[in-house]
Amino acid sequence: MPKVFITRRIPENGIRLLMEHFEVEVWEDEHEIPREVLLEKIRDVDALVTMLSERIDAEIFDAAPRLKIVANYAVGYDNIDVEEATRRGIYVTNTPDVLTNATADFAWTLLLATARRLVEADRFTRSGEWKRRGVAWHPLMFLGHDVYGKTMGIVGFGRIGQAVARRAKGFGMRILYNSRTRRPGVEKELGAEFKPLDGLLSESDFVVLAVPLTKETYHMIGERELKLMKPTAILVNIARGKVVDTEALVRALKEGWIAGAGLDVYEEEPYYHEELFSLDNVVLAPHIGSATHGAREGMAELVARNLIAFKNGEVPPTLVNREVLSIRKPGFE
Ligand code: NAP
Ligand code: GLV
Ligand code: GLV
Repeated sequence: MPKVFITRRIPENGIRLLMEHFEVEVWEDEHEIPREVLLEKIRDVDALVTMLSERIDAEIFDAAPRLKIVANYAVGYDNIDVEEATRRGIYVTNTPDVLTNATADFAWTLLLATARRLVEADRFTRSGEWKRRGVAWHPLMFLGHDVYGKTMGIVGFGRIGQAVARRAKGFGMRILYNSRTRRPGVEKELGAEFKPLDGLLSESDFVVLAVPLTKETYHMIGERELKLMKPTAILVNIARGKVVDTEALVRALKEGWIAGAGLDVYEEEPYYHEELFSLDNVVLAPHIGSATHGAREGMAELVARNLIAFKNGEVPPTLVNREVLSIRKPGFE
């Protein structure tokens, strides 16, 4: 049986499926596998299951002469040098769709929590401060931002961006979007309007980032863009940390160029930023957009289905680099 190495424990359903078709080894430590250990482990593996926290590049491929397929346990694959993989005839797969709803729900979780200051209010209540203050209810206590009927701007109108928009309809919102490709069908279905990025930023009350990290989207939200936003606007980033220039964001939040931010992703992970993390107008999560039982099990199953299809000589269902098909046929032979 071909050998697969999995760089972290994933839900059991995926491992069980893989064990029917592969010799499976799992990195059991909860910490990231040290680079030098990974380079050692992959010397005789045929397939690799990776996390978004591992950089998969030429050095890895050089160390893995048998490697034919890398299945990323994530939909984003900016951690993988896909061009280099394709050049070497190595298949790359990801986990789209199965995490779309969970991640869109989480964008909304951050949006609502930031708009209504839930984390600040939780701290106030839980710490006993409310009781100590002795004010039961006050018309001006913890005022936040209205959500219903406001304008939502979505940057990156793919699977997750569109799912965020579907939810916005229930909140009676005007929906603006910017994306690489226009989507006339979805525009009609959701009543969404395409806008150049600058127009979207200046008109939206809530801006949700749902683009992949690429050369083009690196720091696409910086000082200039944040200054275009309304001082009452809230930025939600569930894409990748490097899409936003953090230092510009900190100034925007401190100096009131925007009202708040809900963040799930950071320029480096794990992350700590004393100034940013001391602000009350941010809600912070440790990259848990897809962290539901259902989504994570769906991802585990999809990773397994990709590897099993490849083993059977079939095109993996969520192949990222289709160009590889003209270089090598699927299969471990
Ligand atoms: P997707 O369906 O590929 O959607 C991405 C959208 O962004 C596409 O519509 C794409 O346009 C557009 N886009 C790409 N480059 C752009 C640019 N330079 N300017 C404007 N739009 C651009 O991917 P998805 O499944 O929605 O996932 C999106 C990203 O979310 C992932 O890549 C990942 O980084 C992130 N994510 C984060 C979490 C989390 O835990 N926080 C969970 C899941 C995903 P085209 O249609 O032309 O390609
Ligand atoms: C998570 O961030 C993913 O890309 O799946
Ligand atoms: C608030 O609790 C209200 O009844 O308006």
